[in-house]
Amino acid sequence: MSEEIIPFSLKDAPALIERLLPVQKLSAEAYKEQMAGSGKTLTALGSYWKGRKPLILNKACILGCLLPATADPAQDLAIFEKLMAMDDESFVVRWKRRQKPMVILSTLSISRISDYFTAEPEGVLPASAPVDWSNPDYAGVKVSWREDLTELERRQLEAQMLPKAVYRERVTKAKRPEEVADNVHDHIWDAVNVHLGTNAQSLSELIEQLGVMRFGHRPRFADTFCGSGQIPFEAARLGCDVYASDLNPVACMLTWGAFYIIGGSPESREKLTKDQQKLVNQVRAEIDKLGVEDDGNGWKAKVFLYCVEVRCPQGGWMVPLLPSLVISKPRTGEKINVIAKLVPDSRGKKYDIVIHGGATEKQLVEATQGTVRTDGRGQDPYLIHTVDGTEYRTKISTLRGDFRKNDGTNGNRLRMWKKHDFKSRSDGIFQERLYCVQWMRPKKKGKGNEYEFRAVTTEDFERERIVEEYVGKHLAEWQTKGWVPDMRIEPGYNTDQPIRERGWTHWHHLFNPRQLLLGGLINQFSDATLKFGLYRVLNANSRLSRWDNVSGGGGCVQAVFDNQALNTLFNYGCRSFANASNLLTKTIKHFPLTSQKKYKIDSVAANYIRELNDVYVTDPPYGDAVKYEEILEFFIAWLRKNPPPEFADWVWDSRRSLAIKGEGEDFRRGMVAAYKRMTECMPDNGIQIIMFTHQSGSIWADMANIVWASGLQVTAAWYVVTETDSPLRTGSYVKGTVLLVLRKRLGTYKTTRDDLAWEIQEEVEEQVKALTGLNQKAKGLYRDENVFEDADIQMAGYAAALRVLTRYAIIDGRDMTTEAIRPRVKGETTFVDGLIAFAVDTANQCLVPQGIPQGHWDKLSGAERFYLKMLDLEARGVKTLDNYQNFAKAFKVRDFQAFMASRRANNARLKSAVEFDRAEMGESSELHQSVLRAVLYAVMELIKDMDSNEVQAHLTMNIPNYYGDMTRRDLVVELADYLARRLEELRPEEASAARVLRELVKSQRLG
Ligand SMILES: C[S@@+](CC[C@H](N)C(=O)[O-])C[C@H]1O[C@@H](n2cnc3c(N)ncnc32)[C@H](O)[C@@H]1O
Repeated sequence: MSEEIIPFSLKDAPALIERLLPVQKLSAEAYKEQMAGSGKTLTALGSYWKGRKPLILNKACILGCLLPATADPAQDLAIFEKLMAMDDESFVVRWKRRQKPMVILSTLSISRISDYFTAEPEGVLPASAPVDWSNPDYAGVKVSWREDLTELERRQLEAQMLPKAVYRERVTKAKRPEEVADNVHDHIWDAVNVHLGTNAQSLSELIEQLGVMRFGHRPRFADTFCGSGQIPFEAARLGCDVYASDLNPVACMLTWGAFYIIGGSPESREKLTKDQQKLVNQVRAEIDKLGVEDDGNGWKAKVFLYCVEVRCPQGGWMVPLLPSLVISKPRTGEKINVIAKLVPDSRGKKYDIVIHGGATEKQLVEATQGTVRTDGRGQDPYLIHTVDGTEYRTKISTLRGDFRKNDGTNGNRLRMWKKHDFKSRSDGIFQERLYCVQWMRPKKKGKGNEYEFRAVTTEDFERERIVEEYVGKHLAEWQTKGWVPDMRIEPGYNTDQPIRERGWTHWHHLFNPRQLLLGGLINQFSDATLKFGLYRVLNANSRLSRWDNVSGGGGCVQAVFDNQALNTLFNYGCRSFANASNLLTKTIKHFPLTSQKKYKIDSVAANYIRELNDVYVTDPPYGDAVKYEEILEFFIAWLRKNPPPEFADWVWDSRRSLAIKGEGEDFRRGMVAAYKRMTECMPDNGIQIIMFTHQSGSIWADMANIVWASGLQVTAAWYVVTETDSPLRTGSYVKGTVLLVLRKRLGTYKTTRDDLAWEIQEEVEEQVKALTGLNQKAKGLYRDENVFEDADIQMAGYAAALRVLTRYAIIDGRDMTTEAIRPRVKGETTFVDGLIAFAVDTANQCLVPQGIPQGHWDKLSGAERFYLKMLDLEARGVKTLDNYQNFAKAFKVRDFQAFMASRRANNARLKSAVEFDRAEMGESSELHQSVLRAVLYAVMELIKDMDSNEVQAHLTMNIPNYYGDMTRRDLVVELADYLARRLEELRPEEASAARVLRELVKSQRLG
């Protein structure tokens, strides 16, 4: 095939993502990727980076921007799914293993075996399958695939062997497309080229050709908030030229690593492996020379456990602050429980700490109570210890000497550490004490190590002294050379914590002498590619690294950025080099990128970019819980002074004041400046996608304003579920990503508010119809699943509304760009808010569940609509919590949780009539005096076998004006009927009670 690629032939073609996107399948794929943990492609480069956008989502966005939407949406969708490896034939390769010919022949009905297979000897097998291989005649027959069969034909047959399951289930059992990237697309190119008029044989060729057809050259892709590089990496892997920028140099570094380490050449990989080993040897040699990790008897230190120690102001005892005395409680392997015991030394007014192995369950339980406790979440922690039967309690805040300053802020009496400090001074309030060492040595028999926790000996103290002396001697020089930080900790939301709680004023104060020694040596001996190992070690080895006494067999040192804060700890684990060196040689995935593409990485604020790019896909920090600009200084401090040449052009400062953050005025101004600049740096037919999490109600108005003021207009929006059940938070937690698709707003169109109302209504209805239509079409094609669920259609409805709105530059004589940047007054509903609210209502009106007449729907309250809508979804097997969250917002339900029986992320469920029982009847409930509540109440009573006359009497009492307004009775009948049908499979007993109610009310005599 040799289609000629004509430059600009698709110049003004709408992009596929402006018309459709298989969001349900994409959500399943994104979820799979997020759950892959350390198996994720880029994560090993820096697991401390929070909020990575799934590569599969990024791929969908980039492809979706380049592919055209044609007059045949069903085929557009089919081709897109092939390119995403979401089609059946791709699953053949994504499956754990491919089926053998004999197995296929014994399973499938094939009318002519010889269409697919050759058999040796010939003429023995029957002409058609299935074949019964137990027939002795067939013993010894060998079957093979016909060599002239195309890969597509072969996969089509194999696809029939795949288990029939819904997409989500199928995805959980399959490999991710990127894991089989080498050959997963082999069967698609004929179909792709016929549909698109291209002649590609790989994704990268296709991308190049689509770029030429749209922009006249290979597409130039950009992400100006590149973070860990997830979006730019995917663009590079697909074959685009890439421009990636971020304000934060750590983001630039991770993106660099994605291109040049994960995407590096095989030769560069070989070199990296050698360099890593060399680095390990160099550091080990230094440590061995000092002899500070050996006990002299063949044991090597694995972990050193330190705790804070304070003088108790009541009685003057020195007390170690240990929230738990449990040292090790292994869940796996040899389960020897180890605890610390505090032995009072009355003379010295201090405690000796002995280590006791083989603790009983009872001792273990006792040991969970240490010397620091709190009386519950949010309560002040306090020191507690008992001397001669008297218990002493002192709040930690009292120990610190917290007080309120004249200006209303808080102060304390902690000494602020100085630039050359690396440990507490002897007069400091908080001292630090080594209280246990975990040792290891190779097992005498068999593989692996044996481990031992021991109390601290005089030899240990001597080794501590050597380290301190060495660090003391070299620190100033190392700081001057930039091997160890000398950077101050700037106060801030997260960074205040170490300053306030410990008096740590410089970043190196977050590391103890042993940790400074390791960090300094690694930094000193490493080049650009090895700095990733340095950062991994720093993340796993600082005064903020929690000692986890259960994981990893007998306990392990957890990472600082397990969470997104800079929490100080009363006790922590410090790794020996033997226990940190594996972080330097960690296995990192490898996806060599084709080298002839152009990649550029810049550390500039998004509003200062200078490059021209065709496509922008960005994930800005919207209302982000992660304060990148603060917490990443933990790492910046280590490279700031002496970055390797590859990173030297970046600004090694987090430039907090330039960072876009929060959700207020500053946020909007920052976003407008950034997106305005991107719009300027984009051709007229360029396209953008903004990703943001859908969390607050004002987001749509915010986004509309930002888009307007930046000279952009919305062309589509999609909602993809990207994360669920985060272990970092308690309870269920669903996070979805909205993709807002944007184009330049060209021309200056004017309209009036009245005209807009009509236009929005039409556009929303049109959009809803188009997607439901595609659902119908796809039904035959894609098993029984919807391409779009209601929530997607609702989202598309919002997008349609925004599409209409942002098309206009002037509405009712007002210049929308000016209107959009007008500061918001708290509580005030702006002109734009009003328009959005109208648009959202219109979208919701289009989503009436089947079986409820529009006339009745219009009369229901938001809470009633919510319940009925969600029941409709539950009946169709949809049970993800984010649907409930989204619809609650859409229907303006204040507290949807009151209606929920389960709020599990993937298994959410409404309360049944019986579970409601008598709740939600009172005035404070959003269902108060509603017809739906009365109906559910009646259903509950019927299930409880209450007399039907009484049930009816209650029903009429529970519905105000029941006899005055005949439509109420009709509504009862409608709702009872609706419940009966929706609950048929979910809760048959309630369904039957609802049917009884319907008939009772229908036959009720009035008057
Ligand atoms: C949500 S993160 C991007 C995450 C990224 N998509 C990923 O998957 O890792 C937002 C990024 O915006 C960056 N940022 C904040 N303000 C910025 C600005 N004014 N200009 C450029 N980047 C900025 C932050 O440093 C952060 O890396």
